[in-house]
Amino acid sequence: TWTMAGFRDMEIARIREQVGKGRVICGLSGGVDSSVAAVLIHQAIGDQLTCIFVDPGILRAGEADEVIKTFRDRFNIRLIHRDASDLFLSALEGVSDPEIKRKTIGRLFIEVFEEEAAKLGGAEFLAQGTLYPDVIESVSFTGGPSVTIKSHHNVGGLPERMKMKLVEPLRELFKDEVRALGRELDIPEAIVGRHPFPGPGLAIRIPGAITREKLALLRRVDTVFLEEIRAAGLYDAIWQAFAVLLPVRTVGVMGDGRTYDYACALRAVTSTDGMTADVYPFDMGFLNRVAGRIVNEIRGINRVTYDITSKPPGTIEWE
Ligand code: XMP
Repeated sequence: TWTMAGFRDMEIARIREQVGKGRVICGLSGGVDSSVAAVLIHQAIGDQLTCIFVDPGILRAGEADEVIKTFRDRFNIRLIHRDASDLFLSALEGVSDPEIKRKTIGRLFIEVFEEEAAKLGGAEFLAQGTLYPDVIESVSFTGGPSVTIKSHHNVGGLPERMKMKLVEPLRELFKDEVRALGRELDIPEAIVGRHPFPGPGLAIRIPGAITREKLALLRRVDTVFLEEIRAAGLYDAIWQAFAVLLPVRTVGVMGDGRTYDYACALRAVTSTDGMTADVYPFDMGFLNRVAGRIVNEIRGINRVTYDITSKPPGTIEWE
């Protein structure tokens, strides 16, 4: 009979056979897929694996630290942490077009990754957390044939450019199976059960040009929203939940004073594959509690809205 433990052992043997004494590098994002791939490959070949974590400066609060703590300290995986925030943020300065944001970020991820790989003296193999759905269709997220709504694949050009052989131990699995494998490998639930997070990160959750101040504000809103979702026990019932910082200021009243601050939107959806999505039906009490906390705790935000658009016709992200 097929078991996840059996699959793990078989894959470990396969990786050892494929790689031999060669060196493998793996881009770690902190997401489920690359995390599970990295830990599995590490179990197979130990220090022949080096992970490269590029911090683009557009991650959620605390995420970079968590990646380092988990992979370097807990799993003893060789990890290169490159803080590339200055590079990414200066390249994104004044950029407000969503597709230019994506392309800029995608290009920089590849450049920085290649730079770090070169510093290592290169490697024969590149590991990727490619899943079965990525294999059967290069997902295009279209509204009709050949209409690109968003250009998703950030590091799609990497393998060809780097002329490396691919190690893709998850290519027969679906997302829920990857999560089960992650649990089998003792990867913390906080990583295994994590909501999907887009490569362009918070940059596509700030319509218009991003600034450090806006990023800081958005991180605080996002943290409060997710804290309340976890406290209410709703995290696992939701496909993705996040905040968007709107490029509009509104008038409010605080104590006996007038405020003129940013508005934000909250987004939470259910979905099975991200292709279609429904709004998560929070009760009003929950939304009131979150909105109250955001407006009271975060200077600079004085209005909270809840996005009730399904996909289609909306998309999950605002950009
Ligand atoms: P949309 O907004 O197209 O999102 O409904 C569908 C799913 O894809 C994620 N997403 C991205 N992921 N690079 C990524 O790696 C991107 O440019 C990108 N844009 C959207 C989104 O978070 C959702 O899970």
